[in-house]
Amino acid sequence: MRYAIAADHAGLPLKRPLSEALDRLGHEVTDLGTCTEERVDYPVYAELVARAVTYGEADFGILVCGSGLGMSIAANRFPAVRAVTPADSYGAQLARRHNDANVLCLGARLLGIDAALAMLEAWDAAAFEGGRHQKRVDMMSEPPTEADHQGAQGTR
Ligand code: RB5
Repeated sequence: MRYAIAADHAGLPLKRPLSEALDRLGHEVTDLGTCTEERVDYPVYAELVARAVTYGEADFGILVCGSGLGMSIAANRFPAVRAVTPADSYGAQLARRHNDANVLCLGARLLGIDAALAMLEAWDAAAFEGGRHQKRVDMMSEPPTEADHQGAQGTR
């Protein structure tokens, strides 16, 4: 599989071990940054990976920030992306099996390297089961209505 990976400054400590693990698992890995400890904005890196998945340059994405949460919010702005921040390895596995998640977001301030690698391995070993789950994934692919957009703007 082709993976795109990116991190912000807070996620940087996990990016390399995760890239190396993907390599060991036999995947092609494209590193989209960041590569220094300089403070950066996580939405920029979430977009790079979300675009790689959206345009078919990668089958899956890995995003790492401090919590994994900002990355998933930013990546999920892209309709083709189903980004998740699982709580544990079982959640990572279920995200593939049931939700056909295509971007795994991890928090380097919440997870040690061993826990993050275990989540990546659980994710990698699992496959989407389709069947009853396909219908639900298809439901999530339907765009919100124009009224939903208006409503969201009204609450800002
Ligand atoms: C950066 O300080 C931090 O806010 C970011 O890495 C991430 O955790 C956001 O969700």
